[in-house]
Amino acid sequence: MTQIKIFDTTLRDGEQSPGVNLNQLEKLELAKQLERLGVDVMEAGFPASSQGDFDSVKQIAESVKNVSVAGLARAVKSDIDACREALKNAANPRLHVFIATSPIHMEYKLKKTPDEVIDTAVEMVKYGKQFFDHVEWSAEDASRSDLDFLAKIIEKVIDAGATVINLPDTVGYTMPREYGAMFRYMKENVPNIDKADLSCHCHDDLGMALANSFAAVENGATQVEGTINGIGERAGNASLEEFGVALNIRNDYYPYHTNLVLKEIKRTSDMVSKFTGMTVPGNKAIVGRNAFAHESGIHQDGVLKNAQTYEIITPELVGVQSNNLVLGKHSGRHAFTDKIKQLGFTLSDDKLKEAFVAFKSLTDRKKEVTDDDLFAILTDIQTDTSNVKRYTLVDFKVQYGSSDKPNATVTLNTPKNDQQLTDSDTGQGSVEALYNTLDKIIYEDTQLTDFQLNSIGKGRDALAEVHVSLTVDGIAVSGRGSAQDVLEAAVQAYLNGVNRAIYQVKAI
Ligand code: KIV
Ligand code: ZN
Repeated sequence: MTQIKIFDTTLRDGEQSPGVNLNQLEKLELAKQLERLGVDVMEAGFPASSQGDFDSVKQIAESVKNVSVAGLARAVKSDIDACREALKNAANPRLHVFIATSPIHMEYKLKKTPDEVIDTAVEMVKYGKQFFDHVEWSAEDASRSDLDFLAKIIEKVIDAGATVINLPDTVGYTMPREYGAMFRYMKENVPNIDKADLSCHCHDDLGMALANSFAAVENGATQVEGTINGIGERAGNASLEEFGVALNIRNDYYPYHTNLVLKEIKRTSDMVSKFTGMTVPGNKAIVGRNAFAHESGIHQDGVLKNAQTYEIITPELVGVQSNNLVLGKHSGRHAFTDKIKQLGFTLSDDKLKEAFVAFKSLTDRKKEVTDDDLFAILTDIQTDTSNVKRYTLVDFKVQYGSSDKPNATVTLNTPKNDQQLTDSDTGQGSVEALYNTLDKIIYEDTQLTDFQLNSIGKGRDALAEVHVSLTVDGIAVSGRGSAQDVLEAAVQAYLNGVNRAIYQVKAI
């Protein structure tokens, strides 16, 4: 069976989703989770785009060792130099250099003739090849490029040293048969094509990203690029979890396999959704909340008689566990430490202590502590930015009655001179009363632009999780908070957003 390599670009193309703004600690945790998921290559960022991106590519390259780490570069020397510097300590670095090849991009965006584009591409691949064994070259907007021109430039960049040729459907315009035909054309018309891997990269503007990826594979692509949950620019990228599970389930049809560890899918999807604030729709294939729910009586009856009547994927395959009780009130530090290792986390002694306290406090309030609860605690602790002074909640109260206007009182520790401040305000609802009060205490000018409430797990005692989008002194950030109580989660999410903005300003 041919192996299809999985190139994950959640941290680069995915991070370009509107409103998504991951900090360095979150990117690192996500990179470690992608390593557990078994992707072959992860594109950690675009080092030349900002100091923050550079730093996080560097940190990821130094931390994950079982996966190739790639950095994106435009076809200019300074971008390639930034990748070289950021990836210098990576175990298996890859340069990903791109230039547009469609007539519209060459004429209006690059203002270059086709021959100039060929020269630049060749020159930059040669330049990159001096520092990288693995050079991926992408023809941006390949799907709207002239096939003969594409064949010509591909032949030349392979001669210049490119080891992977990626043909993106940058604007999500192409149809599966057309996209597949482009790959077949290159296989048949580029004389040295066997010296490089062919790769596909599909956007979902017309809802074709996954179908196009399969069409590419059917016609010779051996690498598939995409993101977890399909996040990305505009309508997003091909969903890698959908690709991996579809190949696994239809192995009777496709003679291909991937190295993905499918049981890590749900957890990876949850982490991406939590960090980005992009909630997964309930009906999303593989990772949606309803993906394994059977509503109609006929279906339920069938599933009870034989699960395969209506269930082609088992929840267990992708790591969806229903209420797996792992540890309880009486579990000791030893069992807890073992469990953390099993989940793939390495914590410093201080963070381990902190995690144990958070776990014990959860067992006081929640009867059954599941893997997913622990995972939430651990990711919160690993991405905690408390080394930068910030707002912390001391106490809050809300007076609420169905015929009274809600009134909130909040006490916060503030970063300014470590002052503790208390204030009160009202609102149309309890959350508004709390947020109006927070605005009175917080020094930064803060506007709420979005609010979402979900539960982590099922049952009455499930944790509440709130995601907010804010602008804090003009910086767009997202914030999240989880707590047993919905109002506390709402307050924590707001403070988290404000603290993230403060952290971002300090980190620049
Ligand atoms: O969609 C695209 O063309 C890209 C390239 C930079 C690979 O993301
Ligand atoms: Zn893209």
